[in-house]
Amino acid sequence: MPQEVRGVIAKAKGEPVSVETIIIPDPGPGEAVVKVQACGVCHTDLHYREGGINDEFPFLLGHEAAGVVESVGEDVTDVAPGDYVILNWRAVCGQCRSCLRGKPQYCFATHNATQKMTLTDGTELSPALGIGAFCEKTLVAAGQCTKVDPAAKPEVAGLLGCGVMAGIGAAVNTGEVGRGDTVAVFGCGGVGNAALEGARLAGAKTIIAVDIDDTKLEWAKGFGATHTINSTNVDPVEKIRELTDGNGVDVAIEAIGLPQTYEQAFYARDLAGTVVLVGVPNPTMEIKLPFIELFGRGGALKSSWYGDCLPSRDFPMLIDLYLQGRLNLDGFVSETIAIDDVEEAFHKMERGEVLRSVVII
Ligand SMILES: NC(=O)c1ccc[n+]([C@@H]2O[C@H](COP(=O)([O-])OP(=O)(O)OC[C@H]3O[C@@H](n4cnc5c(N)ncnc54)[C@H](O)[C@@H]3O)[C@@H](O)[C@H]2O)c1
Ligand SMILES: [Zn+2]
Ligand SMILES: [Zn+2]
Repeated sequence: MPQEVRGVIAKAKGEPVSVETIIIPDPGPGEAVVKVQACGVCHTDLHYREGGINDEFPFLLGHEAAGVVESVGEDVTDVAPGDYVILNWRAVCGQCRSCLRGKPQYCFATHNATQKMTLTDGTELSPALGIGAFCEKTLVAAGQCTKVDPAAKPEVAGLLGCGVMAGIGAAVNTGEVGRGDTVAVFGCGGVGNAALEGARLAGAKTIIAVDIDDTKLEWAKGFGATHTINSTNVDPVEKIRELTDGNGVDVAIEAIGLPQTYEQAFYARDLAGTVVLVGVPNPTMEIKLPFIELFGRGGALKSSWYGDCLPSRDFPMLIDLYLQGRLNLDGFVSETIAIDDVEEAFHKMERGEVLRSVVII
């Protein structure tokens, strides 16, 4: 029997979100219905609401979530009712050219649910990142459910489903930060702070946080930053060189998505170092760099999609490290809120007052 639940809908570009009744179909082949317990408010939800992702309104927002599987389609064997899961937006297909070459973390044909969730008048909803978890229950592809240790609280576990995974992975997977490395992170929001945390986890010896907001830099210290730079009135490239014996860092991570900070990351790295772009630029932006510098500095310029994560490999491992007290995930939860407070949480995010507001359902 299809079920009626409450969920947060963005009906039109720029309009405040509202809580509406949503119809969730029973899971079909390859699908699962998940009882959502917690879902973080990510910048990408706001991008959807602003029409910055696509025009497929109305959106069912929310995508950084943890919960319990309620029911599964008849052929589903990997997860079962009662499993505690983090939802991911990389349910790998196993058959595309990247999966077949042994690189499922780049899967080019990821799975989402085939059936649609709807409003009571039958209008089909577009779930954010194929998830839609500011909702009491949601319908996803079974592969979007990654089982983790239920000892981790949902408001913390869910954050690994997007921004925190993107940041940790930018450092550990894409940047391949290693023991003794020097690292700089530009932008210390949820993603940038997670990149700092990833660098700490990987054993970096110098971890430099760059931001234009002193509050963010203060928080960054709790995620492993050994040095902070407010770049409002200081040249961060020069300052980073000073902190690294005049050389620059081994890995420079851009976690904002701006041409000027990408350029700073490019020049702040040592010879043969790596630049990682995890911030998402908007389609109108351009960068201009002297071609000879691309050659002369050597190294690698990489982009990090979802922290190049493989959910089945990375989520359970990071949850275990969290439960052992080796990964600070609690620090990302600025506040817990109700499903009716998402619009207000967007405003707090815009004012830079929170790392993450997390909806408890
Ligand atoms: N690659 C991925 O898969 C992925 C996944 C999730 C989010 N993201 C992207 O990561 C980026 C960061 O997300 P977030 O949630 O951390 O955002 P956020 O808004 O919380 O953080 C951005 C930070 O950058 C700082 N900042 C802004 N302008 C700056 C400047 N000129 N110099 C230095 N610091 C500056 C802000 O003060 C803020 O602390 C966004 O572009 C987001 O879309 C990427
Ligand atoms: Zn694939
Ligand atoms: Zn997100």
